[in-house]
Amino acid sequence: MNLQQAARDHLWMHFTRMSGYESSDVPIIVRGDGCYLEDANGRRYLDALAGLFSVNIGYGFGEEIGQAALAQMKELPFYTNWSYAHPRAIELATELASLAPGPLNRAFFVSGGSEAVESAWKLARQYYLARGGKQVPADETRADERLGTPPPHKYKAIARQIAYHGTTMGALSINGIPALKESFEPLVPEVRHVKNTNRYHRPAEETEEEFTAMLLEDLEDAILAMGPETVCLVHMEPVQNAGGAFTPPVGYWRGVRELCDRYDILLSADEVITAFGRVGHWFASERYDIRPDLICCAKGLSSSYAAIGAVLASDTVMEPFLDGSSMYAHGITFGGHPVMAAIALKNIEIMKREGIMEHVLEHEDAFRSTLGQLLDLPIVGDVRGTGFFYAIELVKDKETRETFSAEECESLLRGFLSPALFERGLICRADDRGDPVIQISPPLVAGQAQFDEMTGILGEVLTEAAERMHATV
Ligand SMILES: Cc1ncc(COP(=O)(O)O)c(C=O)c1O
Repeated sequence: MNLQQAARDHLWMHFTRMSGYESSDVPIIVRGDGCYLEDANGRRYLDALAGLFSVNIGYGFGEEIGQAALAQMKELPFYTNWSYAHPRAIELATELASLAPGPLNRAFFVSGGSEAVESAWKLARQYYLARGGKQVPADETRADERLGTPPPHKYKAIARQIAYHGTTMGALSINGIPALKESFEPLVPEVRHVKNTNRYHRPAEETEEEFTAMLLEDLEDAILAMGPETVCLVHMEPVQNAGGAFTPPVGYWRGVRELCDRYDILLSADEVITAFGRVGHWFASERYDIRPDLICCAKGLSSSYAAIGAVLASDTVMEPFLDGSSMYAHGITFGGHPVMAAIALKNIEIMKREGIMEHVLEHEDAFRSTLGQLLDLPIVGDVRGTGFFYAIELVKDKETRETFSAEECESLLRGFLSPALFERGLICRADDRGDPVIQISPPLVAGQAQFDEMTGILGEVLTEAAERMHATV
């Protein structure tokens, strides 16, 4: 088969301007090992994005994970979690309960991150109904009777501006990126987006404490404006990816937790990216002492060797669903798929054996200081992040922190940076969902050699980018 032609003729790539491949080749990745990928032309790339922030153990464990998948295929290729259990789902749920911080002892499995976010919001809505003693309709007739009744008391959600939380209608509604949502209005009611923790463009004289206070005031204002009695969920990433690795300021998570407690709202940590080692812990909630009621995870749960995600729920959230005829009225055929669960279990075993958490914690300072060399370049305004999760913000003017216009971003990111980095053998993401950033999130087995390699390539390409932009601005 001529893969190149067949890709152009038949494959619909996600979030892809398909017309871009009328005149250039579709990049076809054929194999991977460690932190490296190879394309159909035999060219090698350093994958500084770990797939999609997700191949946490790197590409080198296919044989071992494949054996675990094969064994499970032979034993039980599929069975459902709808009313039934099977050993791998039980073992994985137990493993997650032991790894997750605090009383997050219950796992509801799904197929990916969007489904996890979708499920968290639905769960929060139903939790408040169930806690209020109202019953879930037991059959279609009763469900029909409910049509036309007013919405449940607590059903609204709060998320943050520019945050990405997935693409299914519920998750998309929670998304804080207007451009992704415009084509799909009207969305699921009702979500408000509060300020995120981007400090780079705040006034220079503002202290970290003042910044935190401003953010918490903004969150509380949103809760009050929406009506606390109508809000069921605050959904946020421990470190926000879109916009560029926004870490929380001191006191932020304690304040968010306090507000959720004060107004009786469930706090959901979107750890689709941050869980399973990205910031050196099984869950970033542990690093920042977030104490969420729910955690959404996916990507790193299997290091993307399988399509599996989960919502982890606290004992308190579970409690009303353990009562009488109450049940969470939600399910997905592939949730807890035994082969996916076997792969996730093997991934966690490998992470423990290879000391992935320890590796990230030991190397995060070296990673930060290596990437920090890029701050010498005139176009690099900020290098921020934590663990193995970084963003490099590009600016027009370093002194004033002035950012590029939409047209400049288009020519800088899509016209130059993305192809130039790829041509030089580096995969990372040039992104302008907020201000323009380059996102760096390598497999968690990366070491100094890879830090140097990516910084070297970025240095060359960004130097050229600065020259080009100065020629055009
Ligand atoms: C924070 C966050 N939440 C949710 C999602 C959605 O996950 P998925 O693409 O697996 O549906 C993503 C995907 O990148 C994400 O980064």
